[in-house]
This record gives sequence, structure tokens and C-alpha cells, in this order.
Amino acid sequence: MFGSGSKQGPTEEQVIAALSTVNDPEIHRDLVSLGMVRDIVIDGGAVRFTVVLTTPACPLKQTIEDDCRAAVGAIPGVGSVRVDWDAQVPRDNRLTSQLNVGVRNAIAVGSGKGGVGKSSVAVNLAVALARQGASVGLMDADVYGPNVPMMMGVEGERPVSRDGKRIEPIEAHGVKMISIGFLVDAKTPLVWRGPMLHGAIRQFLGDVNWGDLDYLIIDLPPGTGDVQLSLTQAIPLTGAVIVTTPQAVSKADVVKSIAMFQLEQIDVPVLGVIENMSGFVAPDTGTVYDIFGRGGGPEVAEQMGIAFLGEVPIDPAMRICGDAGQPMLLAHPESPASIALDAIAHKLAAAVSVMNLNRPKPRNFQADPDLAIMG
Ligand SMILES: Nc1ncnc2c1ncn2[C@@H]1O[C@H](COP(=O)(O)OP(=O)(O)OP(=O)(O)O)[C@@H](O)[C@H]1O
Ligand SMILES: [Mg+2]
Repeated sequence: MFGSGSKQGPTEEQVIAALSTVNDPEIHRDLVSLGMVRDIVIDGGAVRFTVVLTTPACPLKQTIEDDCRAAVGAIPGVGSVRVDWDAQVPRDNRLTSQLNVGVRNAIAVGSGKGGVGKSSVAVNLAVALARQGASVGLMDADVYGPNVPMMMGVEGERPVSRDGKRIEPIEAHGVKMISIGFLVDAKTPLVWRGPMLHGAIRQFLGDVNWGDLDYLIIDLPPGTGDVQLSLTQAIPLTGAVIVTTPQAVSKADVVKSIAMFQLEQIDVPVLGVIENMSGFVAPDTGTVYDIFGRGGGPEVAEQMGIAFLGEVPIDPAMRICGDAGQPMLLAHPESPASIALDAIAHKLAAAVSVMNLNRPKPRNFQADPDLAIMG
């Protein structure tokens, strides 16, 4: 695994010992014991090595680089230090071992309440993670009101099957997608009975040729009903993020949906809360108006003991982008809403890595046998 040292320079053991003192700032464990150091090459006083990040969306790359340089640079005889980068997203082992799919992590975006911006957040998080270098899928689990095709600008597309067995996802903006909206006429009202719903969600996982995905983002319909239950029974979700607006009534619904994910028989870790539609900055005066109140997200997060991932302001461009099929993050990357969404994607990726690497207890999950043989 490691190259050999030379007489004039430091030894490989010295380099490893130095890097053992560098902690990943989010996982709070050292790079060597996390297996993040690879390909050490020592050529006289020149040392180079590869750091394998736990997500390409790592916001703290610079800190890691600075710490590595300082640690290795302090070894006597070291003249130069070069850090190369690679990334490998840790797998949620329950997903990959129990189901025959190449999806490393499945993250649901939910809320107790409708219209708080779940789909907008899900779409932009998927695009942000893809832009940061991850392979990303987006599953539109809102079988009653699928919005992903419109928001991603692929309305009217029809997926095909190349092998007659699995459906090829539709791809746009670097993200692979599936939605009931691709499979049925948008004008047909859908009446789902429990078993059909369960079947559809299972097919979205097992019958779609996702390939290897770092993250599958799942846009849930509002509420704490059948779809959420079906989903959690069909797949061991890596985690859920909850979207809320700042006002009190939304907060109450959020508490309810967090509690649903935390129910013993569901047991999906809630990775954090996102507050959407927080404040409106008047473009003419710059005055901030707290249209839906303020601070609901952080309050709920604190009350429930989970992380607060960030707040996304109200920006009319977000609605316009959604309707036009142009994700906000790509159309207006410099807007405060896009910057917030990008930062939230970084935090989410970090939270997933931390959880997978520090997984405390195996979850009591029985894979659906039908799903296990699919894909
Ligand atoms: N930060 C924001 N600023 C302005 N408009 C927003 C923002 N977030 C979402 N919207 C708009 O609000 C509306 C509802 O958003 P969205 O469809 O994402 O919510 P949802 O929670 O998925 O709704 P549903 O419960 O119906 O699935 C959309 O028109 C969307 O463009
Ligand atoms: Mg939605």
C-alpha cells in the first residue's frame, strides 16, 4: 500500500506517525485509523501522499491539507509536502449488504407539512452534491403530486429499458432521476391503494438501473402517511432531513414527522433540520422581512436534539426556477438561497459520512426478500 522511503528523507513510519496526529475535523478521528491516507511516496525530502476524503463535497478540505502539511512538514529532513486528493463516500452497509443495489446512501427529504419547499430543497441538494463531484440519484416518491420532472426540466420524458428488465433513469443536470411523472400522464389522477404504493416505491429502488450512487435523495410527499411507511419498510434509509418553514404551525408538524422517523419500528436517523423560506430580503432596500417568523428550524432542532443544517431565504427566483425546470443552484449560483443550499449539501454529506463511520448500533432491519433479489 505504501511506497518505500529513501535514506536522506524521512521514513514512511515517520510520515504515518505524523499523519496519525491529524484528525478529520468532522469525524474527530485521525486520518490514518480512518484509512484516509494512501500512496505515500518519499523521494529524498519530498513527500507526497493521497488523502481519500469521505465525500467529494468536503467543506474542510483546506483545513485537512493545512494540518497534513504542518504535521509532515515538521518531520526532520522533509523539504516539500504534496497532498493529492481522492474521495470515497462510505457506504451505509445495511443498504448495500441487504439489497442488491449500488446505492451507498439513501436520504429522504420530508416534512410534516405540505408546500414548505421539500421538492425544491431535494432538487437543489441533489444538484449541489452532483456539482461537488458525487454521483447522485433523485427519487420522486411523491406519487400523488410528482414535481421533480418539472423542477428538473424533464417533464414529458419517458424512461426506456435497455435490457428489458430494468428502467434507465432520466438524467439531467448531472442527476439520475425516477418519478411516477415519467410513467403516467400528468393529467391522470392517481388513486393508490396501500399495496400498489408499496410496489411502486419498491420498483423505484430495485427496478431502476441506478448504477453506483453515492447518494440517492428521496423527495417525499407531505405528511406522515402511507408513502413514508412504505418507503421505510422497503429500504433501510440512511437518514432523513426535515424541511420546515419558520412559523409555529409548521414547527408542530415537524416535531411530528421527526417523531415518526424515530419510532422504534421505523428507526430512521434524522440527520438534520432545514429551515426554508426564512426571511425575505427586499431587492430594492435590502431590508429583511421575516414573513413566516423566524428561528423555527433551530428551535425544533434543539428541542429534538438533532442538527440544524441551515436556512434558505425566500427568493422569488426559486419559484421561477422551479417552474422553468432550471435548478436555482445552477441558474443563480451566487444568490443567498443557492449559497445556503450548497452549504447545506456540504453539511449533509459530512453528516452522512460521520454517521456511517461512527455507526453506533446495527439497526434491526429485515430486508424485503423481493427487493433483495431485484436489481
Ligand atoms: N426559498 C424559497 N423562496 C421562494 N419560493 C420557494 C422557496 N422554496 C420553495 N419555494 C416555492 O414554494 C412552492 C412550494 O415548494 P415545493 O413544491 O418545493 O414544496 P413541497 O414541500 O415539496 O410541496 P408539497 O408538499 O406539495 O410536495 C413552489 O412554488 C416553490 O417554487
Ligand atoms: Mg413536493
